[in-house]
Amino acid sequence: MSDCTFIIFGASGDLFKRKLFPALYELIAHKKVTKCAIVGAALDDTDMATLIERSRDFIKGSINEEVWEHTKACAVYQRLNFARKDDFVALKKRVENIERKLGLSGNRMFYFAAAADFFCELTQNVAAAGLAQKKGANEYPWHRLVYEKPFGHDLAAAKDINECIKQHFDEVQIYRIDHYLTKEIVGNIALVRFTNCVFEPLWNNRYVDNVQIVLSESIGIENRGAYYDRYGATSDVVQNHMLELMALIGMEMPPQLTGECVREKRAQVLKHVSVVDGIFGQYDGYRQEENVESDSNTETFVAALLRINNPRWAGVPFYLKTGKYLHKKETRIVVKFKQVDCLLKACPRNSNYLTISIDPDSGFSLTLNVKKPGTAQEVIPVNMDFCHSCLFEPFPPEAYAVLLEDIVRGEHSVSVRFDEIEDAWKIVDDIKAKQFPLYTYQKKSSGPKELEDFNKKHGIRWLT
Ligand SMILES: NC(=O)c1ccc[n+]([C@@H]2O[C@H](COP(=O)([O-])OP(=O)(O)OC[C@H]3O[C@@H](n4cnc5c(N)ncnc54)[C@H](OP(=O)(O)O)[C@@H]3O)[C@@H](O)[C@H]2O)c1
Repeated sequence: MSDCTFIIFGASGDLFKRKLFPALYELIAHKKVTKCAIVGAALDDTDMATLIERSRDFIKGSINEEVWEHTKACAVYQRLNFARKDDFVALKKRVENIERKLGLSGNRMFYFAAAADFFCELTQNVAAAGLAQKKGANEYPWHRLVYEKPFGHDLAAAKDINECIKQHFDEVQIYRIDHYLTKEIVGNIALVRFTNCVFEPLWNNRYVDNVQIVLSESIGIENRGAYYDRYGATSDVVQNHMLELMALIGMEMPPQLTGECVREKRAQVLKHVSVVDGIFGQYDGYRQEENVESDSNTETFVAALLRINNPRWAGVPFYLKTGKYLHKKETRIVVKFKQVDCLLKACPRNSNYLTISIDPDSGFSLTLNVKKPGTAQEVIPVNMDFCHSCLFEPFPPEAYAVLLEDIVRGEHSVSVRFDEIEDAWKIVDDIKAKQFPLYTYQKKSSGPKELEDFNKKHGIRWLT
């Protein structure tokens, strides 16, 4: 593992506070980087100690005060306006000083924790100041650039940003990230599927009845009204997390489960996705949220029926459902297998499915039919469970810590290739063009009551 200077643009923001700094602390605490410096940059007139202290409540487990103080000592803050070129020249001096002081080799990770509208300008200014140079895969010290999701707000914007970045940097330096891809259990999906004979031969339209991908949140938009009102649920999570999960479920077997091999197979799935139908919802009270338009039609809930039009998946519906302020927080995938040709009197219809739980618990559960004790042939469903946190680490590493570690190692499967992003935006643009009806739903409910009609229309029975 090499040393690294982490340069975070947007260090006074929510992502740095809740995810990035805790991830950096975790990397340092677990000695995942030999030596490092953290350089935070944003508009705010603040200092690094203040920003770091705001992250205390977001550290998992107890804090090692010695590591905490050491981390603080490696971190500096530079006030900077994304639009001012001179500020980037000043930042470069600051970065060089701290690298010299801490004896770092000049490996640099530039993390753009800012809205996608800034990505092009930030990239241009980083390049113009000479903070990062265009380099090939084996050129050292390395310079890597990390772009948060969502990459753009529609297909046209994503293409513009990508063109802009490619003018300055090589593809091997560019990380368009989706932290979901680094979750331990998500990495496990492909492995479990491809290495178990009880699943792989069944993973197709002959045996799979439908696939359900659900990402429900019990919280609202919190203080992110300006961002959310422009994006909505479809662009915020369907475009990235949910379609990436769908691609992982649907992909063909890669020769290995790393880097370009996985990216290529994921990309092949998204090229063949079509949108059949859907409904939108908006939680009651959304229009009164701070920085939300009073007549906003932004969806905070979406349920959609998609298909993958290839020989493996033709005819299998993929149901996606996500929303804010729902009655529970969960991210799950259900692969529902077809019913066997059952001649028994009591043939159950809703067992035989694999649940992949991602959040908050992680694990696999296979729901099977067994005989109800004491009866001759009454059938009941039972679960065979694999609980990840019970069997392995109770505190698996934070997805963002794995992400940063992977980028330091130069692992590219955590980065989404541009054609994947492009195809995901095409799907999202298609969903939006279909102008699904928008219904209001109560907070802490399971979505709009009109979801029932949608379910009936398509014969959907949600199993999560
Ligand atoms: N928050 C999350 O949980 C989350 C999760 C996944 C992805 N993301 C993505 O991560 C990115 C950042 O999200 P966020 O929630 O952290 O946003 P945020 O809280 O609004 O923070 C934005 C940051 O950008 C800085 N900034 C904005 N305009 C600037 C300018 N002209 N010059 C210098 N600094 C400027 C802000 O600095 P000042 O505050 O000093 O003005 C702040 O540090 C977004 O792309 C978002 O989609 C966020």
